[in-house]
Amino acid sequence: MTIYDKLLTHTDVINNLHLRTLFEEDEQRFNKFHVLFNDFVLDYSKNKITEETMELLFELANFSNLKDEIDAMFEGKKINTTENRAVLHTALRNRSNTPIYVDEKDVMPEINQVLEQMHLFSDKVRSGSWLGATGKAITNVVNIGIGGSDLGPQMAHDALYHYKAKNLTFHFVSNVDGTDITETLNKCDPETTLFIISSKTFTTQETMANAQTARNWLCTHLGDTATQKHFVAVSTNTEAVKEFGINPENMFVFWDFVGGRYSLWSAIGLSLMIAIGYEGFISMLEGAHEMDMHFKNTPFEQNMPVILALIGLWNTTYLKAESYAVLPYDQYLAKLPLYLQQLDMESNGKSVKKNGKNVDYSTGPILFGAAGTNGQHSFYQLIHQGTHLIPADFIAPIHSLNETGTHHDMLLANVVAQSEALMKGKTPDELRAEGVAEELIPFKTFEGNRPSNTLLFNKMTPKAFGSLIALYEHKVFVQGIIWRINSFDQFGVELGKQLAKAILPELMDKTKELTHDSSTNSLIEKIRTIRL
Ligand code: F6P
Repeated sequence: MTIYDKLLTHTDVINNLHLRTLFEEDEQRFNKFHVLFNDFVLDYSKNKITEETMELLFELANFSNLKDEIDAMFEGKKINTTENRAVLHTALRNRSNTPIYVDEKDVMPEINQVLEQMHLFSDKVRSGSWLGATGKAITNVVNIGIGGSDLGPQMAHDALYHYKAKNLTFHFVSNVDGTDITETLNKCDPETTLFIISSKTFTTQETMANAQTARNWLCTHLGDTATQKHFVAVSTNTEAVKEFGINPENMFVFWDFVGGRYSLWSAIGLSLMIAIGYEGFISMLEGAHEMDMHFKNTPFEQNMPVILALIGLWNTTYLKAESYAVLPYDQYLAKLPLYLQQLDMESNGKSVKKNGKNVDYSTGPILFGAAGTNGQHSFYQLIHQGTHLIPADFIAPIHSLNETGTHHDMLLANVVAQSEALMKGKTPDELRAEGVAEELIPFKTFEGNRPSNTLLFNKMTPKAFGSLIALYEHKVFVQGIIWRINSFDQFGVELGKQLAKAILPELMDKTKELTHDSSTNSLIEKIRTIRL
């Protein structure tokens, strides 16, 4: 029997068990199903698993050559096969500084050089010694980028807001909707604003449109030469940066072995370094590096990213959960679900295997979430009593950075209560014992048996944050390997971009003939009638 068949057969066993019974029958369940890394604890005992499930999942990981694949990534092999690229976000945080070769060239010297360039520049902005065109210090930093060139820096800025320089305000403009840039510029003074144009390709329509609008605004107020003091770029495309009019000295490079959604650790994190300082940024890299080493060197049975990945894969592929909730009980992490949507869904939202054949199993789930406790008062109803199986990750720091009265105790009580409620449910007998009226019992019954992980760590620090994000990156990697898909391309975003390019001139000129389907033609006509 193949490992796949063994797992399929095993789902019948699991589907007949209830988590409540598993806990009642085995007092050691938590001891068996939790894993530690630094000050992180991942409790995965409230999943629909037994010891046999885990053994089978580890067998699946071995069968998928996971260890070799992990090594191949860290060694800079070209594992992004459709784009013939290495995948080396781990090199960006390689604090041990061991050489890493791509095409026989050690990438570490260049990585360290850009880090140093970021260091010097961020120090100048933070200390007020980087002066704008009229001699004033910078007070507002605007990152213009989209996708990985926006979500990482923005989410990290919020996550580490506690450590942010108080003299600086940060803005993140991503949407091509003119409201985004207009409302941001309304809050800024051209004399004291710095724009960071972040784009790996420097061709992305939304980013270039926003960058041009920002430049026009600046030049209208301060004249054309002001760009030199108010615009810097982060990109892999030196030519396009020069053409835009940004001094190459004010360009921070990164490389095609860094995927957009994995680029927070590169110069794409420049706004974050300005916000939290060089030491804070390095501490974040160290946290990620420690998670990298744990991932690379720890046997799968104690390996946090591997276990998180296997549990997710079990839920998605074998228990047929189509979605997955990420529920941070930390206001600073409110944007984590948005960030993870790109990380997970752009990486593993694939239906073709690396060998070009279609998969015949489910791959990446639909990811959503919100900060606890807010989600409890909106969509948790469906997680508790709806018809869908929605595994959840609860994430919480044990100490708050803002200990205020008993707020944090209340927050923690809620996070622990939610996973207990999902696991145990509430039976009709328990309701009767509480005196609930018989006609209300069906409505008040909770089936329970709903899986969740709980991830606790001591406190939100740059280091803990780095470890947390690296944990999820590696989780996504492991799942991609086992699903045999390429987690590092994103061709699925291209078609819409191409069609939008074709439609744009049609929207702006009503004499252009329309040759789309009847719906698309009519929508364009409707818009033209109102706008032109
Ligand atoms: O649209 C998808 C995408 O290519 C993402 O993968 C990427 O993070 C984003 O666009 C932005 O790309 P760039 O950094 O090249 O502007």
